[in-house]
Amino acid sequence: MLEVDDVYKSYAAADAPALRGVSLRAEKGDFLAIMGPSGCGKSTLLHLVGAMDQPSKGRVLVDGRSVADLGDDELARWRRQKIGFVFQFFNLLPTLTVLENVELPRLLDGDNGGTCRERAQAMLDLVGMGTKSRRFPAELSGGEMQRVAIARALVNEPSLLLADEPTGSLDTENGESVMRLLAGVNRDLGVTLLLATHSSEAARHARRHVHMRDGAIEALTENPDVAASV
Ligand SMILES: Nc1ncnc2c1ncn2[C@@H]1O[C@H](COP(=O)(O)OP(=O)(O)O)[C@@H](O)[C@H]1O
Ligand SMILES: [Mg+2]
Repeated sequence: MLEVDDVYKSYAAADAPALRGVSLRAEKGDFLAIMGPSGCGKSTLLHLVGAMDQPSKGRVLVDGRSVADLGDDELARWRRQKIGFVFQFFNLLPTLTVLENVELPRLLDGDNGGTCRERAQAMLDLVGMGTKSRRFPAELSGGEMQRVAIARALVNEPSLLLADEPTGSLDTENGESVMRLLAGVNRDLGVTLLLATHSSEAARHARRHVHMRDGAIEALTENPDVAASV
């Protein structure tokens, strides 16, 4: 469902390219951890896969479609419907309640009927935040905010979930619990999951490990722990 084909990315402000010939494939339901030190290109790769940015060279196909072929309006809709994003700093809107934050991607897609609220509440139940739907983000712990962000990322039933250092702002215990949630979502909903992380603890949950260095993939390994338990 995901094909990254010899992708290069250069930023105008930088001298060395952030990605130098990256190729990668993922099947539906796959769970890949993109690993490597800070600056190796993990976030850049996720941005290109999520169509937040375009490659300088090479192509990215999601469900057989090249994002380079979509116009701006179509691209925004396609991104909302196909891709869910989870960020290190949650990116919840502080003036909206938990429920309103999760509803937002559906409202943007024109769903303003009762199904919108129902669907958002169901997602909050799924991530264990069902009873805190009327709170504001500032009234939650970091781990709870990340759960809400995961509910928001899933509300449009994306085929691809991209998580960029989702445990980066959390303590060990909350980080582990967020990773368990993401792994459960991958397993139970069949959503393809790409995790960018420099934490080997977080990557432990992934089925495959993509080791990056200096903008290139150094090695791709199966995770024996997960392979055995599936
Ligand atoms: N918007 C940008 N403009 C210029 N350089 C960037 C930009 N984003 C990332 N880079 C550079 O690209 C390289 C890869 O960055 P990034 O993908 O963020 O790495 P990682 O997520 O693995 O830490 C780094 O050298 C970084 O400085
Ligand atoms: Mg990064």
